[in-house]
Amino acid sequence: MKVAVLYGGTSKERDVSLSTGKGMIQALEQLDHDVIGIDFDPHQINTLWEQLKQVDVVMIGLHGKQGEDGKVQGLLELMGIPYVGSGVLASSLAMDKAKAKQVFAMHDIPIAHSQSFHYRQSRGDIERTIKQTFSTPYIIKPNQEGSTLGLTVIESDEQVADAIKTAFTHDSDIIVEDYVSGRELTVSVLGNKGDEQALPIIEIVPKSKYYDYESKYAEGGSEHIVPASLDEHMTELIQHYAQTAHRALGCETYSRVDFILHEDRGPIILEVNTLPGMTPTSLYPDAAAAVGLSYAEMIQLFIDLTLA
Ligand code: DAL
Ligand code: MG
Repeated sequence: MKVAVLYGGTSKERDVSLSTGKGMIQALEQLDHDVIGIDFDPHQINTLWEQLKQVDVVMIGLHGKQGEDGKVQGLLELMGIPYVGSGVLASSLAMDKAKAKQVFAMHDIPIAHSQSFHYRQSRGDIERTIKQTFSTPYIIKPNQEGSTLGLTVIESDEQVADAIKTAFTHDSDIIVEDYVSGRELTVSVLGNKGDEQALPIIEIVPKSKYYDYESKYAEGGSEHIVPASLDEHMTELIQHYAQTAHRALGCETYSRVDFILHEDRGPIILEVNTLPGMTPTSLYPDAAAAVGLSYAEMIQLFIDLTLA
């Protein structure tokens, strides 16, 4: 089968995407597919069209904007080329943290309290409102970004102005959210629409205070415990929330749903990643391994589900 992998791209998560793409390409070669790896450049759409014309299916190894946010999916839809993973609407909804949270709330999935701001609002007003509304610790982050890029955990008021500025360098909208402390958990969801399964829950134990960029991607930056040590009731509840969130956004084939388990409040959903990392330190491949799927078997299953 002729399979193209789109990776790299122009988002701030480019480095993660290079690693995800490499993993996908290696797996597809191991599976004896005819693979073309394409470092995605939105300015080279004509070339892309030529490269993709003969392809049976596309795997999207991109993360973040212009990759995970529905735009590339829209392009592939227009080109009429099958691709693995969520479609346009689910991808853009999941990438918009504020809108996704509204959908989660509608489905009774617990969320952290948050408020959004746009760059056209006065910085002074934004700063004042944030300081009046939120008590430390809380988070200021871009509305559309991944891998904790542009995110600041606010521990004192002096950090607010810089944190707003940083978040706005990533996006025209920012979101301020209560910091929920607790265990970091993630659930990988797999399967076609209506038949999705939640894979075993992974607990992430970062070596640093927060599960930041470094602890996500540095070798040994965090420990993954699979399955997370949780009682049966809690396991079922979190897996149910993950499946519900995946379905509510309309995701397809695979996604990874991140949670914090707060001691008193229970599980709080953070976000759904429609193109979760597939790097050597990534979580999704670990969850697949826990149900007996090697990395290559997981990739083949994604393709089989897509083309079924
Ligand atoms: N945004 C990164 C790639 C992840 O969630 O895995
Ligand atoms: Mg993410």
